[in-house]
Amino acid sequence: MSAALQGRHSFDDFSLVENGAIAGRYLAQFWQPIGLSREHKPGTAKRIKMLGNFYTLYRGQDGQINLVQDRCPHRGTSLAYGWVEGNSIRCRYHGWKFSGDGRGEEFPAETQSYARSMCLKVYPVQEYLGVIFGFFGEGEAPAFLRFPELEDESAGELLTLAVVLPYNYFQRIENDVDEVHIHYTHGEFAGSFGLVDIPRITARETEYGLVSIAARADGSKLFTHAFMPNIMLRDVVIQQDRDNLTIHAAWRVPIDDTSTLSVMIDRVAKPDPTMHQKLKEMTDPNELSARIMAGEMSLDDVDQNHPLLPVIQDTVCMAGQGIIADRKSEHLGASDRAIGLLRRIWAREMNALQEGQPLKEWRRSGEGKLVTSEAAVAAE
Ligand code: FES
Ligand SMILES: [Fe+2]
Repeated sequence: MSAALQGRHSFDDFSLVENGAIAGRYLAQFWQPIGLSREHKPGTAKRIKMLGNFYTLYRGQDGQINLVQDRCPHRGTSLAYGWVEGNSIRCRYHGWKFSGDGRGEEFPAETQSYARSMCLKVYPVQEYLGVIFGFFGEGEAPAFLRFPELEDESAGELLTLAVVLPYNYFQRIENDVDEVHIHYTHGEFAGSFGLVDIPRITARETEYGLVSIAARADGSKLFTHAFMPNIMLRDVVIQQDRDNLTIHAAWRVPIDDTSTLSVMIDRVAKPDPTMHQKLKEMTDPNELSARIMAGEMSLDDVDQNHPLLPVIQDTVCMAGQGIIADRKSEHLGASDRAIGLLRRIWAREMNALQEGQPLKEWRRSGEGKLVTSEAAVAAE
């Protein structure tokens, strides 16, 4: 264990988020994705869980998205089971009704003077590239981080996906800067795109987090940009377009300590025209992963055309570490440099947060796109 991780901080400080845990408090200081726009139709409400807490997310009949406290102030049932009326929500239990900005509107069995004292806590929410983002922290929400890499419509079709992963989010974040696993966990994808050599990994801290550089013997480089605290941006080969590198961003948000919402936004150059249909009809990736981990089948038995094959492959490896990985018995090597740097940055920020010291203000300057890959330089 490095010096930065000794003493006051254990690995639990990165992984545990519930009940006011420090990592949960840290993550709440950033906008987090909470769902896909297309899955929240006007006039519907849904109960969501983020960072260990429930919220009610609903879309008014006018199309406006609203994020409010989950428990009705009256006797605490979830507002998500109620009715959306206009841009307001009415509780299913005794009919109390609140507007999208939290004001009490109707309290059928109560006096007006009592009703006026009731309101809901509301949370900032916005939509970007087909994804709904919420802010769960105290005080004013920070500036929203945009990705010009994903906004470029000339780069292809937008593909958004949200998948619940049955293990702790920090394993998923570490994997984002683990280029070597691609050669084994997703060997056929790496091979089909000519990524044959195991890369040499270097990493450095940046203004937005860290960049991990995978350099291969042919001179090519792949850059993985890990935006603090839980976003990655890189090029990948995806099932929906095996012939091109797809620009891929992913947010790994803890639902609670043992499950993670992975929200992915891709720009797919030449998408398989059947991809939306295949995604609708696929067997639940978590069901397949659970069967593999229960010894009922092997990863090699999974349909190699399953649209989320890489998610299944990753889940088996990462849930295979333990639902919350025990990092005390690991042996990190040279290829884990980026993971080591990621942990040191997290340890530093957790220490600062705990001690009330200033945190690093992550940012990306300029409007330009980040470099995500460099082709091999042709030999003279
Ligand atoms: S619990 Fe919501 S109105 Fe009674
Ligand atoms: Fe992977």
